[in-house]
Amino acid sequence: MVNGPWPGIIAAYSDYLPLKQDSRIITLLEGATPLIKAEKLAEEIAPGASLNLFLKFEGLNPTGSFKDRGMTVAISQAVSEGAETVICASTGNTAASAAAYAAKAGLRCLVLVPKGKIAQGKMAATLAHGAEVVSISGSFDDGLEIVRQIANKRPIALVNSVNPWRIEGQKTGAFEICDQLKGSAPDWHCLPVGNAGNIVAYWMGYRQYKKGLPRLLGAQASGAAPIVLGRVVKNPDTAASAIRIGNPARWAEAVKATEESEGMIVAVQDGQIMESWRMLAELEGLFVEPASAAGLAALIQEIELEAINPLNKKIVVVLTGHGLKDPSTAIAQSVDPIELSASLEAVETYLDG
Ligand code: F0G
Repeated sequence: MVNGPWPGIIAAYSDYLPLKQDSRIITLLEGATPLIKAEKLAEEIAPGASLNLFLKFEGLNPTGSFKDRGMTVAISQAVSEGAETVICASTGNTAASAAAYAAKAGLRCLVLVPKGKIAQGKMAATLAHGAEVVSISGSFDDGLEIVRQIANKRPIALVNSVNPWRIEGQKTGAFEICDQLKGSAPDWHCLPVGNAGNIVAYWMGYRQYKKGLPRLLGAQASGAAPIVLGRVVKNPDTAASAIRIGNPARWAEAVKATEESEGMIVAVQDGQIMESWRMLAELEGLFVEPASAAGLAALIQEIELEAINPLNKKIVVVLTGHGLKDPSTAIAQSVDPIELSASLEAVETYLDG
């Protein structure tokens, strides 16, 4: 653990990261996100079970998602290898993170995104950082295939989670959780699964940190659940746009990690995801983007199916991205504001009504 101001994940966990000693570190001081005890939510989803439920709020990273943990390492490594351009395909968060770290490093950044499928906050940030955004008339999976080929042909660093340095950085989330739980891993670790980098990274982290191993619960959206179905999904579809992925790059490793942990990857309906999203906001004061609520939706489902027994368990749910990433979906889910005239009387009448 760190004494003094937080230095970012690379300096905090340098003993566990294989970066060269003299690497120039590109950091926005990512990591050190809170692990929030969710007592009301625990009682709501498992009444009387004394469930110790914790929420790891990764939306509080510098660009609003967990991607920053991987990006600080991937971009630092790209710089040390002499790259001048980085590239990625993205459902939005990787794009925003790559764009920010590339800006900090002074690199050119190109991102391929599925046209019309990127949440507004992600697009806004990516453009603000000066990245070149290419909207393709295809899916995330199509974009990933193209950027992989480009990175094979040219001296351009690919910063998707197929890049092993991304996984190295993201595994630090597991270290933090063990530190925050006073040196022990939880019983269950729940998170959304899209391209399947993060679940693999967390498993690597827990194994390296040696503070115990949780069982992994991965959540895919039912319209984009290739791992659950055991086949590629050609036209993935879900309101949780961040995990709208039909052919995850780290599919086999995700299955292996899940099996090793004696866990599972399950599918949840969009309705369940949005219900979990609302519970996080209304019961715990946490505003996340829809995909980020998928881990909670899966936990609720598996408790209901009695596949997970919550009694006296310590369970961590990772909330992967901030709600401000996707304001349109949030507004579409909400009631309209109340409109009144600008008078004291009108507001008091409303209050008393
Ligand atoms: N949650 C959020 C908010 C995400 O943005 C992503 C992935 C995931 C969960 C799933 O993580 O891919 O490691 O299994 N977003 C990627 C992107 C694909 O381009 O931003 P994963």
